Amino acid sequence: MPTCLRFLFSDLLVLFLLLLTASLSSPQPLCHQDESLALMQFKDSFIIDNDTCMTWSSYPKTASWSVEAKGGRSDCCSWEGVECNHHTGHVIGLDLSASCLNGSINSNSSLFRLSHLRSLNLAYNNFNYSKIPSTVGNLSRLTYLNFSESYVSGKVPFEVSYLSKLSSLDFSSNYDLVIGSLTRLVQNLTRLEEILLSYVNISSRVPKSLANLSSLRTLELEGCGLYGEFPIQIFQLPELQNLDIRSNENLTGQLPEFHSSTVLQTLQLSQTSFSAKLPTSIGNLNSLEGLCIDYCNFSGSIPNSIWNLTQLTNLHLSGNSFDDLSCLTKANSNDTLPHLQYLHLSSLNLTKFPNFLRNQNKLETLILSQNNIHGIIPKWVFNASKESLQGLFLYNNFLTGFENSQDVLHLPNLQEVDLTNNRLQGTFSISLVAPSIRSLYLSNNFLTGFENSRDVLHLPNLQEVDLTNNRLQGTFSISLVAPSIRSLYLSNNFLTGFENSRNVLHLPNLHDLDLTNNRLQETFLISLVAPSIRGLYLSNNFLTGFENSRDVLRLPNLQHLDLENNRLRGFLPIPPPSIRSYRVRNNSFTGEVSPLFCNLSSLYVLDFSYNNLSGQLHPCFCKLSQTLKVLALRGNNIGGTIPDEWAKRCSLSMIDLSQNQFQGQLPRSLDNCKELRYLDVGNNKIHDTFPLWLETLPVLQILILRSNGFYGAIRNIQINCTFSNLHIIDLSHNNFSGDLPAECFQQWNAMKLFGAKELQYLDYSIISYSITLTTRSIELKYERIQDELKVIDLSCNRFEGGIPEVVGNLKGLHILNFSNNALFGHIPSSLANLTNLESLDLSQNNLIGEIPLQLAQLTFLAFFKVFNNRLTGPIPHGNQFDTFPNSSFNGNLGLCGKPLSKACGDSLPTPDPTLMFEGNQDGVSPFEFGWKVVAIGYGCGFVVGIVIGQWVIARKQDWFVNTFRKK
Ligand SMILES: *[C@@H]1O[C@H](CO)[C@@H](O)[C@H](O)[C@H]1NC(C)=O
Ligand SMILES: *[C@@H]1O[C@H](CO)[C@@H](O)[C@H](O)[C@H]1NC(C)=O
Ligand SMILES: *[C@@H]1O[C@H](CO)[C@@H](O)[C@H](O)[C@H]1NC(C)=O
Ligand SMILES: *[C@@H]1O[C@H](CO)[C@@H](O)[C@H](O)[C@H]1NC(C)=O
Repeated sequence: MPTCLRFLFSDLLVLFLLLLTASLSSPQPLCHQDESLALMQFKDSFIIDNDTCMTWSSYPKTASWSVEAKGGRSDCCSWEGVECNHHTGHVIGLDLSASCLNGSINSNSSLFRLSHLRSLNLAYNNFNYSKIPSTVGNLSRLTYLNFSESYVSGKVPFEVSYLSKLSSLDFSSNYDLVIGSLTRLVQNLTRLEEILLSYVNISSRVPKSLANLSSLRTLELEGCGLYGEFPIQIFQLPELQNLDIRSNENLTGQLPEFHSSTVLQTLQLSQTSFSAKLPTSIGNLNSLEGLCIDYCNFSGSIPNSIWNLTQLTNLHLSGNSFDDLSCLTKANSNDTLPHLQYLHLSSLNLTKFPNFLRNQNKLETLILSQNNIHGIIPKWVFNASKESLQGLFLYNNFLTGFENSQDVLHLPNLQEVDLTNNRLQGTFSISLVAPSIRSLYLSNNFLTGFENSRDVLHLPNLQEVDLTNNRLQGTFSISLVAPSIRSLYLSNNFLTGFENSRNVLHLPNLHDLDLTNNRLQETFLISLVAPSIRGLYLSNNFLTGFENSRDVLRLPNLQHLDLENNRLRGFLPIPPPSIRSYRVRNNSFTGEVSPLFCNLSSLYVLDFSYNNLSGQLHPCFCKLSQTLKVLALRGNNIGGTIPDEWAKRCSLSMIDLSQNQFQGQLPRSLDNCKELRYLDVGNNKIHDTFPLWLETLPVLQILILRSNGFYGAIRNIQINCTFSNLHIIDLSHNNFSGDLPAECFQQWNAMKLFGAKELQYLDYSIISYSITLTTRSIELKYERIQDELKVIDLSCNRFEGGIPEVVGNLKGLHILNFSNNALFGHIPSSLANLTNLESLDLSQNNLIGEIPLQLAQLTFLAFFKVFNNRLTGPIPHGNQFDTFPNSSFNGNLGLCGKPLSKACGDSLPTPDPTLMFEGNQDGVSPFEFGWKVVAIGYGCGFVVGIVIGQWVIARKQDWFVNTFRKK
């Protein structure tokens, strides 16, 4: 035995010495060649560079990986993101999160040969919506797996459920990722401590089996499309600290009785259908820091035990149906949540400020919006939280102002105040506001100004003031505004100007000034405006000019100038090169459009419509078309030919030259404007044939040539007439002749569809079109989603021949007007297929035969006119046909039945003075005077008006994003 022992002892000693020398002489073993190769292959399967990074903090971690290491061998264990086992050298951890990987990942990826991996983090990359490979199931040692926000999609492979050692599973924020069965996925993953699946498509009930995961600490299932009853047992998981099931609107449930052993720290149920009462035992959650149950269906009273939640930092109770809020409004003086920072109590029907606010001394954000609070804001609200308060949000109440008290001046950290939509009256007591303030939102009140106080000059951080929609009158006392100001929104008031004060010249940071819809008169003191200004919005005022128009040039950063609807005279002021949009629609500017505009290479909207501009359009404007999207000159006196040098890369989307004096031909180089959606040259003196060459413009939707000297036949079977996107074509009041272009009708595919394929007038969001069509006598006004409006107007030309049957295929049409031509033959019954039709005008032609009875099926038809033809037989009746007046049918010798007085069956026509003339083409009728009267009553065509929308100034959203992210 002793020998035996001795032997064993010496053996152990040798072993020990061996181990000792091994660990002293060779450091960590170098990584295994096959694993190094697998990693390298994995890296090489992606495009990795700075452009493919998904977040700000991303960078290509693999950039340092190299097989050409010192000593001729690579040591992958030293590569960034790679972790090896110290003894075996096997790769056990790979963290390539936010590493700018871009490309697909698939099942034979070399990654899955790293069978020793315990931790795999590929979050924040772009896997191009590839699937999570099923071979991930081979990595059976994994305890940590993270694919969050990595653009994977499809079904999560079943094989993930083989990873029975997993303690953390994170697939969150992959909106196209689908989990077929959460039950099966986690069935064997009994060691899970974290399940992070927010914003993954689960769309199922929450399996009760989650309550078996006894180690679970964190369960995040926000926005997963969950429904059904949430298993109440999950609340009782002994280790559960964080539960987030927000934004599952169809998920119902109730809160359980909580025991004091519960370790919950955050409970987030916002925007679910949780209901019933809050249990008194909620007071047992003594570790709770965040309670977010806003916008659920909780009812009953708020239990007094919430005062036991002494660790709370976030309390969100907004938007529930509590019927008793006395716990908040009648709190005792020792009822306080000492750590509370964020308090959201919106939409709760509060009628007064909750009195426990006077006990809170760490509040940073207070939101009491959308309640029923009336009267003044008492100063005790801020008693305790003076030092900490940063954001005060009281919008949508009935507040009249602050309690006039000097105390308020000492809110030293207040940054944002939102009192939008209240009853603030008189002068805003600006002296109440703290010096740190950045944003002041006061729109939709009854304020007449600021309390005249020098204090405001000492608001060194004020950046944004919104006083839109108040009662500001007279001159705005700009001296009240701080030099740090960036945005000043004063639209919809009664301001006549700025108080003449040199201070304004020292607003070095002003970016946006909005004075839209005020009473600004005479000359605007542009000298008041800071050189930093980018957006100057002065539309809808009574301005007649600038004090010194050359000063506009002194705004070197001006990007948006909006002067629409004023009384501005003289020459157009030339903006600086930074200008992007320039709108002076509806003023009285005169003179030529200066070629200096051609040098403004950032312009994308130029709207001179409705002024008195004359002269010619300089050919240099064509140069601008590489950047310009909108060129609108409607309603001026500009003449000459339209320049014909539109740039090869013309990016114009809208050209409106209508109501001018342009002559000559339509320039062929417009063909270069492949993005053109809207071309209106109506009401000019253009003399040309039909521009078939425009048919290649892929997105052209609106083509208006009305009231010009266009002539000749349209039909030309040798050439296509595709115009595949055409929604509106107006050729009225020209000299077109020949047959109606049946081949064209056949190819106008967009007109065959109901509605619109997609919204495609303009892709950028700042401009919206609205088109108003008014037939002259009849108030037919179109102001709706214009994308679906479809119109053919060929009236007042010399078209002849029959109405082609194929018109009946254009099922999307709303308005069809062939009136005042020389058409003959029958009205095709196929017109009854135009089930969207609202107006059909075939009057003043030579049509014969009967009105097809099927037309009575057109139930949207509001206007129908066939007067002055040679129609015979009975007028259809039923539906809309019972509403059309006599005048729709007059002047047809052979028509009978209601509404005409001639009953069918009568053999002789009743004499009628208007029937005595026929043929109307050239006004050669002896009853010319009479015809003119008719023409005024039933004019040709329609008027198209365009409204270019206002800027959308999105600013508050930013704040909301920030605040809610703070959580
Ligand atoms: C990527 O960005 C980093 C940091 O800005 C820079 O050092 C590096 O040169 C960039 N690499 C490439 C390929 O542009
Ligand atoms: C779960 O484990 C059991 C027993 O180990 C096994 O029979 C079953 O196939 C596993 N199921 C899944 C989904 O992995
Ligand atoms: C919730 O249910 C309603 C009614 O069944 C359904 O219309 C809605 O899409 C559901 N919401 C979600 C997010 O699944
Ligand atoms: C609240 O706390 C008090 C004192 O710590 C305790 O007596 C009471 O039981 C608690 N109430 C609840 C509902 O937790």
